[in-house]
Amino acid sequence: MTTNNPAQTARILAGYSQHRDSLIPVLQEVQQQYGYLPAEAMQQIADYLHLSNSTVYAVSTFYSQFRFVPGGRSTVKICCGTACHVQGGARILDDTERRLGIKPGGTTTDGEYTLETVACVGACALAPVVIVDDRVYGRMTSAETNRVLSENSRTEAEVEP
Ligand code: FES
Repeated sequence: MTTNNPAQTARILAGYSQHRDSLIPVLQEVQQQYGYLPAEAMQQIADYLHLSNSTVYAVSTFYSQFRFVPGGRSTVKICCGTACHVQGGARILDDTERRLGIKPGGTTTDGEYTLETVACVGACALAPVVIVDDRVYGRMTSAETNRVLSENSRTEAEVEP
């Protein structure tokens, strides 16, 4: 994740035609670059595509994939697909919300975690599934999720200078 850089955003924009059909792929690539959609980058996108800032904002808020604030150092995703839900995923989500003090889409005040829900990730045999960054954990419980988060926090603290 990097901070907003107009030159970098301009390089991304240069790869797209200045047509409104480019809006979604541009938003996706800009978010991939920064980890979220910085307000300045959204203005730059609007100017490039000859759209109003409010149009870019309205389209991007329509899709849950876009974020408007930087995410945490780690992302916790709780699968809310049917198999995971039936196997206790909803309970894990409730408990994790309480533990982190945030709702899905939120980031903890210390910037450590962003919490998200996801639809089925294709690992139903392992339900309920929790994903921390790129690591998939199956047959989870709230206690086990707590343990993984505590361990993850400790590991991050160790690697920080
Ligand atoms: S429902 Fe969670 S992995 Fe399929």
